[in-house]
Order: sequence, then structure tokens, then C-alpha cells
Amino acid sequence: MIKYAVPEITPNVYAVGSRHWNRRLFDALAPTPLGTTYNSYLIKGNDKCALIDTILPGFETELSGKIDQTLPGRKIDYVVMNHAEPDHAGSIPYILERYGSTLVTSAKGAELAKVFFKVAPDRIRVVKDNETIELGGKTLRFINAPFLHWPETIFTYLVEDRILFSCDFFGSHNTTGVFDDEAEDVISWAKKYYGEIMLPLAKMARMGMDKIKGLDIALIAPSHGPMYRHPQIILTEYAKWTAGATRAKVLIVYVSMYHTVERMVQSLAETLQDRGIEIRICDLSVTSLGELAGHLVDSRGLVLATPTVLNALHPLAAFAALTVKTLKPPLKYGAAMNSYGWGKGAVRQALDFFEEMKIETVGTVEVNGTPSAEDLAAIQVVANQLADKVLADG
Ligand code: FEO
Repeated sequence: MIKYAVPEITPNVYAVGSRHWNRRLFDALAPTPLGTTYNSYLIKGNDKCALIDTILPGFETELSGKIDQTLPGRKIDYVVMNHAEPDHAGSIPYILERYGSTLVTSAKGAELAKVFFKVAPDRIRVVKDNETIELGGKTLRFINAPFLHWPETIFTYLVEDRILFSCDFFGSHNTTGVFDDEAEDVISWAKKYYGEIMLPLAKMARMGMDKIKGLDIALIAPSHGPMYRHPQIILTEYAKWTAGATRAKVLIVYVSMYHTVERMVQSLAETLQDRGIEIRICDLSVTSLGELAGHLVDSRGLVLATPTVLNALHPLAAFAALTVKTLKPPLKYGAAMNSYGWGKGAVRQALDFFEEMKIETVGTVEVNGTPSAEDLAAIQVVANQLADKVLADG
């Protein structure tokens, strides 16, 4: 039998989740090169015990093994479902059955628990905003925080220990440490995760931040990635990200089949860099969704550079545009560059995309074949115009 490592994060509060270190893709879309974690927390009160969130099916016996090792023979009175997505809630049927627990969740969560996990209504306790449950020396307070990430989501605050269990909010796909000061590149991974999951929900994320404003938080315990025993480091970043704060930064996304567009990109990037602009250059043939999403969180400008393929954007450039439409980042200024052979069309599509996204088009460059000296000069003009806008906005 495996002897599990179960960190006691504060007296009688235990981290009993799992590392899925070899998971390489999330939502069949976002790469997770470090894998991910499904964090679950066990709280022992003087009278009762509670489990905060469960785990992805497939890991349920690891979860129960950790619970049994930590509190052998104890009933789990309450299972709190902060979020109904199966990576956290998929093992609810197993845990409820094994420990005879009552499921605690929001009203919307109760609906989803019936739909997804066939939980009988008499096994569910619906809690309202600010309602509390006493475990005996440990008080759970529930905070409505809808759409972070689904409509039913809540946070759970452990009053005496000042721990905020926030599920996806403040999460990251980072398996390198249990706490923020033990893990690698904490903010970088949290930012990618925010871009992938929370960016299109920024309005709700701002409301979530408002809900916890003034809350005395000693530790943030999300359900993916490291816990924050220095909560201010992630709260500071989230304050900026959820506010849609941008930097003097331009994200250049491009596709190049024969290095022509690549040359145009380099010319533009050199000028932007000369002007003191932060640049991020992403070759879309090798860029992951996570990288793109992370850069989109705080970029002020976007350059879409593509060859024309069948009178349209290259499909990878179209995918990037669709990604931007989906994630709704706070971009303000855009420019498009295109190399075409015998037919145009890509720039028209890029302009339509900018207009739809309410991104101000600063300039476009269309090059027939490979760029001439005049074309490169035109690129420098667009780069300078873009730099003027991006710098003036700060
Ligand atoms: Fe990690 Fe929205 O679930």
C-alpha cells in the first residue's frame, strides 16, 4: 500500500488531492507541459469533517486512500462542491457513497450535481451567499462567485484559519510545488491559466475580486496548482488582470511558409523594440494556446501577420483570430501584415476581425511576393504608428 504524502497546511486542514504529472492536454485544447493537480482539502473540526472539492475520476481511490490514512474511520460529514466541472466534482458519487456525506453547494450547483452526478436531492444542502456551516472550531463560510468558471461556482472561506478555497480562480497547471514559494514560475503559469479560463469571464472575475476585498486571507488554496501562503503575490496580479490593465506590449502572431512573412515580422519587431515596446513574437505553427492566452492577458497591441491562402487568412492565423474572439482580451490596437502571390483577401479578413473586436486598426501592409525596400519602409511606418499609440495609451 502506498504511504501518501499529505501536507497538513494548518492544524487539522490537509491537502489530499493528486498530482496528474503526466497529463499533457486540458480540455482537449490547452497543453499542460507540467501536468496539473486536482487539489482537494480535508478539514477536521471538533465535531464534524468536511472535504472541499473532490477529484478527477480515475484518482478517486488515491483521494480516499489519503483521507483514510489521515483520518482513519472518520465520517466525512460534508463534501463541498465549489465547482461542478468533473476535474473537481467527478468523484462526488464515489465519495458520497463511501463516506455517507452530504453535498454542500450553491442552488445552481445542486442542479448540476443532479444532472452530472445523479446526486439525490435529499443528499444535497444548498447554501446561500455568506451562509456558514460549523464543524466545531472550524467554520466554513460560502461566498457566491458565479462563472468562475461555471455559473454555479462558489468560494469557501475557512474563518478561523483564514483560508480561501477558490477552486479554479487563482489556479494554475503547475505541479512543481505545494506552496507558491516552492513552485517554479508561479505567476507565469497562473497567468497562462488565467488567460485560458478566466479572461473571457473578466467581468465576473472582477466581481469575484470585489467579493473577497477586505477578507482576511492567510492562504489561498485553489484546486489546481500551488497554494499561496503569500496570497498578496497572486492577489496583486489578479487585480491587474481582472481590471484589464494592459502594458506597452505588442503581441505579434504570425504564420510564414517561405520565410517571407517572417522577414516582415522581424522588420516590424526591430522597430517596435527600438521604440521601447515589449514584444512577444509567436510563430503560430509552434505556439500553444497557453502561451497565446498568457500573452493576451496584458498586451495592448496585436499584429496579425499571415500569407494569403486561397484568398483568406492562413488557417492558423484564422485560428489565432478565433482564439482572440473567444478569449476577449483587453487589446486596443491592431495591425495586419500580409504577403500574397496572385490573390488578396487576408487583410480584408484581418480588418473585419479587428472591427468586430473593437480593436483600432493602426495600419496594414500588403506585400506582393517578397518585401522590397519600399515594403520594409512601409512596415517601419506602421511599426512606428503602432508604437506611438501603444506608448501614448499608458
Ligand atoms: Fe478545473 Fe473549471 O475546472
